[in-house]
Amino acid sequence: MTESLEAVPVIAIDGPSASGKGTIAERVAAALGFHYLDSGALYRLVALAALRRGIDLDQEVALAELAKQLDVLFGGGQIMLSGHDVTDDIRSEICSVGASRVAVWPDVRLALLTRQRAFCEPPGLVAEGRDMGTVVFPHAVLKVFLTASAEARAERRYKQLKEKGIDANIRTLLQELHERDERDSARSAAPLRKAADAREIDSTVLGIDEVVRQVLEWHRQIVVRVAGSDR
Ligand code: C5P
Repeated sequence: MTESLEAVPVIAIDGPSASGKGTIAERVAAALGFHYLDSGALYRLVALAALRRGIDLDQEVALAELAKQLDVLFGGGQIMLSGHDVTDDIRSEICSVGASRVAVWPDVRLALLTRQRAFCEPPGLVAEGRDMGTVVFPHAVLKVFLTASAEARAERRYKQLKEKGIDANIRTLLQELHERDERDSARSAAPLRKAADAREIDSTVLGIDEVVRQVLEWHRQIVVRVAGSDR
């Protein structure tokens, strides 16, 4: 059963595409023994399911219904949709673009809200996405807004694709990132933005290891402060 949202500590990590959120959130979660939520995967799953069923990505009502009924299982590094492993399928560029298109619809976002909050289980959760600190977990004990230059993000995505043996063009990737950033920031429902109480960190200069260390240090300081005020 899901515990009271306030009782379980949440670390919210938001930021634009390919800023390193996934890797950082996973490593912070592993270090603390917390659960991990990749909220972008849910939007990608809605896009994939819609594409497979021939549902137009402009059909808000049908997409919201699909989002409510998604038969999804996360576990052991795998993502299953209706019993099939779609871990790699949802990372395709078509799903990246599709996810950012389905994510503009308020009813789709609402349909995914309960699912996301259900990840909030003891001993804690590290949740990453675009609206973790602003909408889904506004009570998060620590909110991080992770940025990186568009060039650095395109370069990272390029390397990831190359490692998987997927052909990619860095200029096309950069163009797609700009378009996705624009759509994610300009939409009216839960746009990508830094929460007022979030701490900002730039992974262009720092690198992933240093960002992970910084997030863990911020969390440690919060734990020490809370323990001190309880005495
Ligand atoms: O994080 P990721 O790149 O996998 O997310 C895919 C898309 O899903 C994003 O471009 C964004 O449009 C959408 N998304 C969102 N809110 C979230 C997570 C992802 O709108 N919390």
